[in-house]
Amino acid sequence: MNLDTTQFQGRHVFVAGGSSGINFGIAQAFARAGAKLSIISRSADKVAGAVAALRELGAEAQGQSADVRQPEAVQAALDAAAARFGPIDVLVSGAAGNFLARALDMSPNAFKTVVDIDLLGSFNVARLAHPHLRQPGACVIQISASQAFTPTPFQAHVCAAKAGVDMLTQVLALEWGPLGIRVNSIVPGPIADTEGLARLAPGEDALAAMARRVPLQRLGRVDDIARMAMLLASDWGSYITGTVIPVDGGLSLTGPRDFSAAAATAAKGRS
Ligand code: COA
Ligand code: NAP
Repeated sequence: MNLDTTQFQGRHVFVAGGSSGINFGIAQAFARAGAKLSIISRSADKVAGAVAALRELGAEAQGQSADVRQPEAVQAALDAAAARFGPIDVLVSGAAGNFLARALDMSPNAFKTVVDIDLLGSFNVARLAHPHLRQPGACVIQISASQAFTPTPFQAHVCAAKAGVDMLTQVLALEWGPLGIRVNSIVPGPIADTEGLARLAPGEDALAAMARRVPLQRLGRVDDIARMAMLLASDWGSYITGTVIPVDGGLSLTGPRDFSAAAATAAKGRS
């Protein structure tokens, strides 16, 4: 039995951080299923390119340049999206930033920058989207990371921020459940051909070592995450809320990763 993707025809899917990588892959999957797509990210050029690519798939699509750290910009983008495509059926919140650095090598602003994008940004997106979410029926999907529950050296900022994101998921699931709004986190594993993985495992050798560490012995694909997003948003997911779901080939069972070699390479590039 296949998931019936015709149910997404004409649905409004809003993706924060949707101009590249995993989030763009999620947008593409919904676009192929006939949904209307709204996306935001900081770079106007990236947004324009992504919107054009979604339209090439036959979807109605629009987007704005907005930084999730700036509530006014997020609000304006959400208002424009709702004015064009109506209430939001699926909200995907995945804007994020990452770099490898020891806690002692992070300035207060370095730590704050990632917490502001990942955690405060997720709060801004969800909080400001709320009046535009279809009630009942909307599905909110936050894109987390295993650093949320696996304490990982060189990732103090991401660990703190994504742990907060998953707690936000659970609190919003409780507060918004009675309104018929479901809220869940997806925790991607190492996903091939993404900026996030390129920063944590630079080069072919590091990627191969990462793949060997995954119990299923392969890197993830963007589609692995897009399919989980579709499942959560579909009627098959209609009784799922407040969960944090790893889609990672089992990697999060294997404990903290050793990023020291990658961090040394990244630090050389910065000095
Ligand atoms: N090590 C230590 N500190 C670093 C750093 C590194 N590798 N990279 C950035 N910082 C610090 C900066 O020095 C600055 O701190 P300071 O003001 O005390 O000097 C602070 O972080 C903010 O940097 P800035 O470049 O001004 O932030 P930004 O808002 O323009 O960009 C980033 C945010 C740093 C997260 C940037 O990498 C980014 O835009 N990432 C998005 C793409 C991405 O990370 N994708 C993967 C998602 S998982
Ligand atoms: P990516 O392509 O860099 O995606 C991040 C997106 O967020 C980009 O579109 C970026 O576009 C946008 N963005 C960044 N800062 C923003 C801000 N302040 N305001 C608005 N948009 C912003 O990286 P990715 O690897 O696909 O990561 C996507 C998500 O998956 C992230 O939440 C990440 O934590 C999570 N994740 C990834 C992996 C992996 O293996 N890749 C593993 C676990 C979790 P702009 O530059 O235009 O702003």
